[in-house]
Amino acid sequence: MRSSAGTNTRNVVAVKQATALAHPNIALVKYWGKRDGALNLPAVGSISITLDTLQTTTRLQFDPTLKRDRFTLDGVDAADDSESARRVVQCLDRLRELAGVGTYADVQSENNFPTAAGLASSASGFAAIVVAADKALGLNLDRNKLSELARRGSGSAARSILGGFVELHHGKKPDGSDCVASALRDAADWPLAVTVGVISRKTKKISSTSGMEATRKTSPWYAGWVEGAESDLAIARDAIAARDFEKLATVSEHSCLKMHALALSARPGLLYWYGATVEGIHRVRELRAAGHAVFFTIDAGPQLKVVSEKSAVEVVNDALGEIAGVQDILHTGLGDGARVIA
Ligand code: PMV
Repeated sequence: MRSSAGTNTRNVVAVKQATALAHPNIALVKYWGKRDGALNLPAVGSISITLDTLQTTTRLQFDPTLKRDRFTLDGVDAADDSESARRVVQCLDRLRELAGVGTYADVQSENNFPTAAGLASSASGFAAIVVAADKALGLNLDRNKLSELARRGSGSAARSILGGFVELHHGKKPDGSDCVASALRDAADWPLAVTVGVISRKTKKISSTSGMEATRKTSPWYAGWVEGAESDLAIARDAIAARDFEKLATVSEHSCLKMHALALSARPGLLYWYGATVEGIHRVRELRAAGHAVFFTIDAGPQLKVVSEKSAVEVVNDALGEIAGVQDILHTGLGDGARVIA
């Protein structure tokens, strides 16, 4: 993996290292589509919850003896020409540029959940890399800058810098410096539970980036999606401020279904759901109709994520357990933002 910063003569002399931990997040009001591909600026703002027990741990070491960057994910070396390696090198280049160094890095990331299957591993992955590199290089960047740098790696990563309920602002500035995440509410303030029905562990065929780009170019409904985002965001902000579960449930399911309807309307249509995903939607709706505080959301993959009050976790677990295509059930709550752990 070659870095464009590799020719810089102001190399770090000693080995500098740090380890960071970050959690994936799940968008309740979804982002889909970019207004600027080069700067990775989303066309719409988004609101998410950061999770707790699912996590990425990244050990990053800038080492003057290295001849290239190395990126290892779950013990497997990423090929130099892979998309993930290219994005990691670009992210490191931005941090090296800020620090004025050219030293290559060894990056070892471990996820304790399935990678690249709609569980936002790129969100926790880039948040952890940025926070670890900031520490290792002694940059001491503020949360806004960390969020901006994480966003350049993956849009949703900007949100994993923070914990609890988080908004990624669409921003207005052409350079994207105001397209950063801010905290809406701490995790401890409204400790919701998330139950994930794992429906496939396969790596998805179409990445979020190519899926949303195809949608932007070909969906007849794309303009309507962008126009409708602001009112969904306003409703979700109010619901979170008032801890109004029903209101948050309604707007979140609406945003999820609208995003998938939009993706389906691309040419060719993007269908991320499996049969068990649809079955899960029906089960969650039945549970809510029966008075349980539950709602579903689904990202660019088949996994069904059920957000609920803690009191409903058992009933959700039982319902998902009865669906034949659900291979595994993960339980998590809401957690904190990305942080240095060593
Ligand atoms: O940030 P990306 O490129 O992983 O795209 C995220 C897209 C969704 O997960 C489907 C929605 C979102 O806002 O997280």
